Amino acid sequence: MTVAVRSFAKINIGLEIGPRRADGFHALRTVYQTVALPDRLRVEVARGTGIEIHSNDPRVPLDEANTCWRLAELAMKALKARRRVKIQIEKGLPVQGGLGGASSNAVATLLAIERAVGKRLPAEERLRLAAEVGSDLPLFLIGGTVLGVGRGEEVYPLEDLPALDCVIVTPDIGISTPQAFAELDNFREKTGKLTVRASSDKLGGSSHALSAWLSGSSTGVPAKSSGDRAEALLLDLVHAGIENDFESVVFPQHPELRLVKRALEREGAGYASLSGSGSAVYGLFRSREQARKAAKRLKAEGISAVATRTLTRREYWKRMFE
Ligand code: C5P
Repeated sequence: MTVAVRSFAKINIGLEIGPRRADGFHALRTVYQTVALPDRLRVEVARGTGIEIHSNDPRVPLDEANTCWRLAELAMKALKARRRVKIQIEKGLPVQGGLGGASSNAVATLLAIERAVGKRLPAEERLRLAAEVGSDLPLFLIGGTVLGVGRGEEVYPLEDLPALDCVIVTPDIGISTPQAFAELDNFREKTGKLTVRASSDKLGGSSHALSAWLSGSSTGVPAKSSGDRAEALLLDLVHAGIENDFESVVFPQHPELRLVKRALEREGAGYASLSGSGSAVYGLFRSREQARKAAKRLKAEGISAVATRTLTRREYWKRMFE
């Protein structure tokens, strides 16, 4: 049986990175938000054993190095299913782009395998297996607006932000996340600037802004429509100084990414940021029209920009197998 599945991207709204832990990972806090840009996967469970991966993008690893492979292997074992899994990945998202493409692909594979074999793993086990493969996987088992703590794998569904119009710029630059973490450690050691305290101060700021906004108490004016709520969120994000800590090492290395962020702001983004360790940079806009116009103008400047929307949890699950 073959199952077609959409594997959506995520952006990070704020990413605060604490010091390196004893296990080598960094404690972090972030708000993940799923967005309507997909990769498309076809997963076939057939007679035989083993795993086979094909992709239209030569940068996608076709062996155990692929997160899909690792999660598929764990899932088949947990489901006690001895079959051959064939995974076809049609890449729409950038590789090493900070949009969680590889992590999302792995979770999509797991969900497709469950459909194909007609069995489901309990939610807890799904989360545990996903976290075993990578810190960025569990968020895709929740979708919508998700709080990520621990090494990013500890996830909590937040009250969904309304669907926001956004523009995502995907420069042709691959950034290795482990390398970006290592560079951040070096940078902090050298400058001594970003102490843990400074980081936790900001952490308080971002969670306050988001939770204040989520509870509808962020501005004096009650938000009437989702357009008003979106507007209030953008203002709060800016006021709280919500940031992605990776920008401090990624922007100096790739100055063109800082220019992209400025270009998004210039085009009217209420909030713009690097996503994950990049290289994707996104901007949140107040209307679809504004986002479309901004993407069009950036494209005319030779910047690969696409206008899309964030996906609420309901939309995320609805559109996955449509
Ligand atoms: O969990 P994942 O496999 O995505 O992590 C890849 C690498 O990124 C880790 O081996 C580690 O070097 C780095 N990492 C980190 N802190 C995190 C998440 C990832 O240092 N919270």
